[in-house]
Amino acid sequence: MADGHRRFADRYGPWAVVAGASEGLGAAFAHALAARGLNVVAVARRAEPLNALAAELEARHGIQARALALDLSAPDGVTRLLSDLSDCSVGFLVWNAALSLIGPFLDQPLEGHLRELEVNARAPLTAVHGLGRAMVERGHGGIILMSSLSGMQGTALVAHYAATKAWNRVLAEGLWWEMGKQGVDVLACVAGATDTPGYRASAPAASETAKVPLMSAEAVVDEALDALGQRPSVIPGQKNRWAAAFLARLLPRRVAVRLMGRTMDRMYGTAAGSRQVGAG
Ligand SMILES: NC(=O)c1ccc[n+]([C@@H]2O[C@H](COP(=O)([O-])OP(=O)(O)OC[C@H]3O[C@@H](n4cnc5c(N)ncnc54)[C@H](OP(=O)(O)O)[C@@H]3O)[C@@H](O)[C@H]2O)c1
Repeated sequence: MADGHRRFADRYGPWAVVAGASEGLGAAFAHALAARGLNVVAVARRAEPLNALAAELEARHGIQARALALDLSAPDGVTRLLSDLSDCSVGFLVWNAALSLIGPFLDQPLEGHLRELEVNARAPLTAVHGLGRAMVERGHGGIILMSSLSGMQGTALVAHYAATKAWNRVLAEGLWWEMGKQGVDVLACVAGATDTPGYRASAPAASETAKVPLMSAEAVVDEALDALGQRPSVIPGQKNRWAAAFLARLLPRRVAVRLMGRTMDRMYGTAAGSRQVGAG
């Protein structure tokens, strides 16, 4: 194993938990962490892709991998996750699982929004609290919470999803300073459009999708892991950093929110009804 990977494994191992690992960015995180010598607990709802991922991680990287199929939107989902981890020394957590409800806010029943809140905020809060405590006691560890450019300001048609992504960013940034002093690196990964099954499932018309510069999941993960311990949050991709700077620093907030709203109206249309995808 290369020296850099050995140092990574010493600091963040022996076990990593990736919540939302069955595909897309979560699977890319699982591969990248396994390549750095960490054992991986891969969590999502679908057992089949998780089992295939775990077998592939073991074969390719020579680490131990476990597949844990559970629904993190269930009220006891994250409690079950934590109790399943009681025999693992977890030094790394990636909270990647998310639910993204797309469409007018009021078209979704409240129960849908509450499930979104559960997967995107309440469950990661519980996981960070439970696993973060053990990391601080050991004096080292790492945590990545997935955020989104949509959470840099209010974003129409994903208003609640965007709010949960802002929540993840602000939580991670605060903990970066607080837990960083205790040896635990915390990072918000503020992704822009990334080519994943979840993104493709939620994508609007092909003509609109073609205008959006997509990053690969592997490129996003590499930038996130490079930024870990260096800064509180990272926006992978130069084009995404420019877009974020334009919206957040150059434009008045009212104008930025309106611009995002118009873009979302054009992409998804207020008459499109509501959809639901794993993330986006
Ligand atoms: N892709 C993008 O363009 C983009 C942009 C900005 C931010 N992000 C963020 O990046 C993260 C991943 O995005 P992605 O595009 O890779 O998403 P994705 O392809 O939809 O994958 C989401 C993962 O979460 C799992 N998951 C969803 N609901 C779950 C639940 N209730 N319980 C357990 N697992 C659950 C899914 O697996 P199962 O279906 O098997 O449960 C899947 O493994 C999300 O946090 C998202 O907010 C993505």
